[in-house]
Amino acid sequence: MKSASQRLVVVSNRLPVALVKDENGWQVKQGSGGLVTAMAPVLKNRGGVWIGWSGAPADADPADGPDADMDRLFDDFTDEAGYELCTVPLTQAEVDGYYFGFSNEIIWPLFHDLQSRCRFHPRYWRSYLDVNFKFAEAVARRSTPDDYIWIQDYHLMHQAFFLKSMGVRRNTGFFLHIPFPPPDIFMKLPWRAKLIQALTEFDLVGFQTVQDRRNFVSSLHRLMPEAKVEGRGAVVTVNMGNRSFRAGAFPISIDFAQFSKMAAQPDVLQKAAELKEALRHRQIILGVDRLDYTKGIPERIRSIQTLLRRYPDLHGKVNFIQIAVPSREEVDEYKELRTEIEQLVGRVNGEFSIPGWVPVHYHYRNLPHDELVGYYAAADVGLVTPLRDGMNLVAKEYCACNNKGDGVLVLSEFAGAAAQLQRHAYLVNPYDMEGIAKALHRALHWEPEERKIHMAKLREQIRRNNIFRWVDSFLRAGIAKSLVDFPEMET
Ligand code: ADP
Ligand code: F6P
Repeated sequence: MKSASQRLVVVSNRLPVALVKDENGWQVKQGSGGLVTAMAPVLKNRGGVWIGWSGAPADADPADGPDADMDRLFDDFTDEAGYELCTVPLTQAEVDGYYFGFSNEIIWPLFHDLQSRCRFHPRYWRSYLDVNFKFAEAVARRSTPDDYIWIQDYHLMHQAFFLKSMGVRRNTGFFLHIPFPPPDIFMKLPWRAKLIQALTEFDLVGFQTVQDRRNFVSSLHRLMPEAKVEGRGAVVTVNMGNRSFRAGAFPISIDFAQFSKMAAQPDVLQKAAELKEALRHRQIILGVDRLDYTKGIPERIRSIQTLLRRYPDLHGKVNFIQIAVPSREEVDEYKELRTEIEQLVGRVNGEFSIPGWVPVHYHYRNLPHDELVGYYAAADVGLVTPLRDGMNLVAKEYCACNNKGDGVLVLSEFAGAAAQLQRHAYLVNPYDMEGIAKALHRALHWEPEERKIHMAKLREQIRRNNIFRWVDSFLRAGIAKSLVDFPEMET
C-alpha cells in the first residue's frame, strides 16, 4: 500500500527539459544524458516533484533572457508529464563556478580516472558549496518531512550536509551516476575530507557497481578511520560511532519495454529499413554517445581505421556510423574534441573511400527518439567503448532495440555495464585499437545462431533488471518502503 503523503522528490542539476536559446528565442528542449533517460520514466510512472536548474542563467539580460515565459513553459510541461517541475535559478557566475568549474573541471575528470585534466581552483569549491546550499534551501521549501528526497549525481553531494545544518529533517538518498574512483585517485582532491564527510550525512549512498562502492569505502577508511562497515553483499551499513548510514550498489537501467516497443513500431522499422537500403545492406557498426572525452570516440575511430587496414576483405562491406549528441559545447576541451573527431573521420574516409562507399558516417546532433531507435534497430554491432563510464545506458538501449536478436554488443571493460553484461557482450579494452579491430572482425563474422544466444541473454538481463526495479531496490534500501512496487533486483 502506498502512503498518500509520501512523495518522491528527485533533485538533480538538470531537469528532464532545459531552456536553450536558438534563432527563435528561448525554447524548452529535451535534456540529454543518462540521468535524464533513466529518471524521466520513473517520475512519469509514479509522480512526484523534480527539482533542478533550468539550464539558463537567471541573470541573463531581460531583453535576452528566458524571463516570465519560463514559468509558463514549465507549467505546460508539468500538465503533460504528470509530475511537478521546480527550478532553482542560478546566476552565470554560479553556473561557471559550480557547474562548469567544480562539477565539470574537477569531479568529472577525477572520478573518470583522468586526473591530469583537473583544474583544482579553490573558487570552484566555494561556488560548489554556495550552490549546494541554494539547492538545499529549495529542497527544504518544496518538501515535507514525509517525503523521500532522492539526490542525483556529483553536482549535489552536499545536500544532506546542508539540510542537516539548517535543522531540516528528511529521509535522504544519494545516487552517483558516474564511477567512484580508487582511493589513490580520490585522495588527490584537495577537499577530499569534507566531500567524503558530506556523503556520510545521507541515509543511503548508492553507486553503479560493487567496485564503486568498495572504492568509496576504501577512501572513507583512509579519511575517517572510525567508520566501520557491517554486512556483506550489495548493500552494507556503515557505522560512524554516533550514527550510521547505508551504502550500496544499484546498477541503473532503462525502460526496456518502452525501447523494445518503439523498435517494433512500423515507422521505426521503416526508418531502419531505409537506412539499410541507403547503405546497400552492408553490415553496420554503430556508436552513440554524448560528445565527451570519457567516451573514447577518437580511439574508436582509430580502431575502425585499424580494422580497415588489417582486413581489406571488409572494404565496401561494412559501415561505421557514429552519432554524437552535442554536450558542454561552451567548454574548450569539448570544442577541441569535436574538431579532433571531425579530422579523424575525414582522415579515415580519405584513406579508404571508393566510389559508392564511404566507410565512416558521422552525425553531430541530438536525434529524436524514434530516429535513434531506428539506428539501434538497424545496427549489426553496437560499439560502446568508453574509457571509463558509470554505467553506459547506450549499451542497454542497443540490446533492448535489437528485437530480431541478431546483433552483437562490443563493450568496454571499463563501463559499469560490463559488470552485468560481461558474459554475453564482447568485452574490449578501449585503449587497445588492435584488440577492438580483432573483436569487431570476429563479431562481424559470428554465426547467426551464436549471436542469437548471446543477444537473448543480454536482453533478458536488461528486461528483468529494468529501471523500475532499479528504483524500487534503491527505495527499499532507503527505507522508503511505501514507495516500493517490485521484488528485489539482481546485482
Ligand atoms: P551519459 O549519461 O554519460 O551521457 P549514457 O550512455 O548513460 O551516458 O546515456 C546517454 C543517453 O543519451 C542515452 O539515453 C542515449 O539514448 C542519449 N543519446 C546519446 N546520443 C544521442 C543523440 N545523438 N540523440 C539523442 N539522444 C542521444
Ligand atoms: O550521466 C552523467 C551525466 O553527468 C549526468 O549527470 C548529466 O546530466 C549528463 O551526464 C549530461 O551532462 P550535462 O548535464 O553536463 O550536460
